[in-house]
Amino acid sequence: MTQDQPDHSALHNAFREIGDDVDRCFDGLLQVPDDPRAKLYEAMRHACIGGGKRLRPLLLCETAAMFNVDRDAAVLAGTAVEAIHVYSLIHDDLPCMDDDDMRRGKPTVHKAYGEAVAVLAGDSLHDLSFEILSSTEVHGDPFVRAELISCLAGASGPAGMAGGQMMDLEAENSNFDLPTVTKLQQLKTGALISASIEMGAILGRLAPDGRSGLRGYARDIGLAFQIADDLLDVEGDEELAGKALKKDADAGKETFLSLLGIERAREQAHFLVEQAIGQLHDFGSEADLLRSLARFVVERDR
Ligand code: IPE
Ligand code: IPE
Ligand code: MG
Ligand code: MG
Ligand code: MG
Repeated sequence: MTQDQPDHSALHNAFREIGDDVDRCFDGLLQVPDDPRAKLYEAMRHACIGGGKRLRPLLLCETAAMFNVDRDAAVLAGTAVEAIHVYSLIHDDLPCMDDDDMRRGKPTVHKAYGEAVAVLAGDSLHDLSFEILSSTEVHGDPFVRAELISCLAGASGPAGMAGGQMMDLEAENSNFDLPTVTKLQQLKTGALISASIEMGAILGRLAPDGRSGLRGYARDIGLAFQIADDLLDVEGDEELAGKALKKDADAGKETFLSLLGIERAREQAHFLVEQAIGQLHDFGSEADLLRSLARFVVERDR
């Protein structure tokens, strides 16, 4: 297969497989205890099992597969990234943040279990993530485990996702310019996407100086992904998205769309995807799924 002919059935199967694998991991990790903590575990299961595209675990597993990493280890590391992502969504939906009622086609965690439980479910998923990465099942070498933990912690905290969420709060009624919005999105969304790919490379023991193509790919698809999220917010179908849309303009936030307009934003997203695919020039057919994934990021309807 060439890079001009993305294999949609391979991508479709890969999404289905990673969805099943991540569900199975969360199911095993989150068995509900027969004691007063039960509601916390049920809330975590509600948020984690049976929903979401699982884009980040798929990116991690597909990157790892290029370097012949054991699939079960990669799925566990992918589940750790997904745990951070789900925690960020639970907190993002809280009344003090975006105040949303629906997520992944289901009531948000605070709607189903109350705000206090939602805060604890988010906290607990954050911790679960690092507990997973510290296990020898992910990698036998403690230096590799430490590198994975350091990578994900950096991408999640104030220099990554949480910092991007802070900028997003400040974006309301601000006059952020394009470089500032780009930085906001790189932190809010791009950091975890980049970490997923980096962690695949860490598991594959790819030396840092061999990672620049993958890092460029990650940066480009991360931005394209957020432009697509903003486009879906304006033109998407709530049923397919499984969440409330048309919220960004009401919040008075500068986004790629408010700054560029729909047509230029769409063009920019497509340009970024082609650039991302170009970054993979050192790889052969083993990177075809990453190439298809780059196209999926902007062509997606959810
Ligand atoms: C939604 O992420 C929030 C953003 C970072 C834009 P996804 O679009 O990956 O959401 P799920 O995981 O598929 O629900
Ligand atoms: C949230 O961004 C990104 C996170 C870090 C959770 P949004 O607020 O745009 O995500 P949606 O649109 O609610 O999924
Ligand atoms: Mg938000
Ligand atoms: Mg939101
Ligand atoms: Mg959004």
